[in-house]
Amino acid sequence: MRISVIGCGYLGAVHAAAMASIGHEVIGIDVDVRKIEALAQGRAPIFEPGLPELLVDTVGSGALRFSTDIADAARCDVHFVTVGTPQLPGAHGADLRFVQAAFASLRPHLRDGVVVAGKSTVPVGTAADLAGAVRETGSTLVWNPEFLREGWAVQDTVAPDRIVVGVPPGAAGEGAADVLRGVYHTALAAGTPYIVTDYATAELVKVSANAFLATKISFINAMAEIAEATGADVTQLADALGHDTRIGRRFLGAGIGFGGGCLPKDIRAFAARAEELGLRDSVAFLREVDAINLRRRERAVQLVLEETGGSVVGRRVAVLGAAFKPHSDDVRDSPALDVAVRLHGLGARVIVTDPQAVPNARALHPQLAYTTDRDEALRDADVVVVVTEWDEYRRQMSPEDVAALTGGRIIVDGRNCLDAARWRAAGWRYRGLGRP
Ligand code: UDX
Repeated sequence: MRISVIGCGYLGAVHAAAMASIGHEVIGIDVDVRKIEALAQGRAPIFEPGLPELLVDTVGSGALRFSTDIADAARCDVHFVTVGTPQLPGAHGADLRFVQAAFASLRPHLRDGVVVAGKSTVPVGTAADLAGAVRETGSTLVWNPEFLREGWAVQDTVAPDRIVVGVPPGAAGEGAADVLRGVYHTALAAGTPYIVTDYATAELVKVSANAFLATKISFINAMAEIAEATGADVTQLADALGHDTRIGRRFLGAGIGFGGGCLPKDIRAFAARAEELGLRDSVAFLREVDAINLRRRERAVQLVLEETGGSVVGRRVAVLGAAFKPHSDDVRDSPALDVAVRLHGLGARVIVTDPQAVPNARALHPQLAYTTDRDEALRDADVVVVVTEWDEYRRQMSPEDVAALTGGRIIVDGRNCLDAARWRAAGWRYRGLGRP
């Protein structure tokens, strides 16, 4: 099939390459000239495992092309809209400017029988608002939310857990659902559940999935607060809870909490939308989820202060991690960087290291010192703070080797990713979140 992907950020770049890799003829469109130039040469504008190889293959074979001119998408049978929906500046709602601009620029190129599939995460009700203008051209709008995780984006796109398609009622909707069946033929052949529903449900699946995941993380982080006051160990608690198959162990990782370009802004936008609908109370708990999440960053800073006699002024602190999670160079709303910024604000001599995210972190917070060399960050440090659980820190760092580099023997584990007993046995003062 001939497919366009409008918006070549995290979601769009991966979606375009994945669609080309399963046999479609794909054109990626973006207004950012530099991004399109890089992609057209098969270079990924972001760090995402597997994406460089996929781009080289699909751009090389001619299956995937890129353009800044939306008119180049006019021949396509299916258009995916994958632009961002950031948080509104100074407010909690979603900024739909890019979605509206994408639809406005696409509209003159739509014709009879074409399917427009929105993939961006939008407030419930958005698809219904956009559908009329699409229908007037003879095309059909569907909403097909994306659930990919950064770091696993290629895998999540090629082999998703489920495919959800919100369609309008009637024959046009059924036809459009069939068209998307053709687009996703490989995943469907592999048995991926294909859920055809209405617009509002499709939009809600996405935001409620993210709300649930965020709630699960904040739930265990709330238990970490209780554990801190009672001498319990939240990691053992999570293991024990996780054996209950109704609960499950995943997303019960207590630590400095969730960040990134999705969960924080999506729960805020969801709460803002509920308020617009007069349903403030229905998701009032999401404000608590957000508040618990933000408190855990401060708690990590407090642990450092507790170990340094109440002041970090002039102390050298090695911050291991800047990305919001491993396997990503994304620093949007990163709890890791937030901890570094807070320590710097308290007068510590902070040096941040990360295997992938240093350039993005430096652009966002130029006031901090950075190195990509872990050992350089550790050298002469009074305190070590682990805030992103990269394998480089979690698995490939021995307490003895680190002790040979640092000045002090204090380690704060903001992700509960280290073996506390092993570090203590090597003479370290180990502090985890929600652990005795
Ligand atoms: C998330 C959703 O998982 C994905 O389905 C959606 O499409 C986009 O948002 P992503 O932002 O890539 O994906 O990251 P995810 O793996 O969900 O992690 C989010 C944050 O939660 C990270 O900061 C991570 O460190 C944190 N987290 C995750 C925890 O603090 N504890 C956990 O147990 C799991």
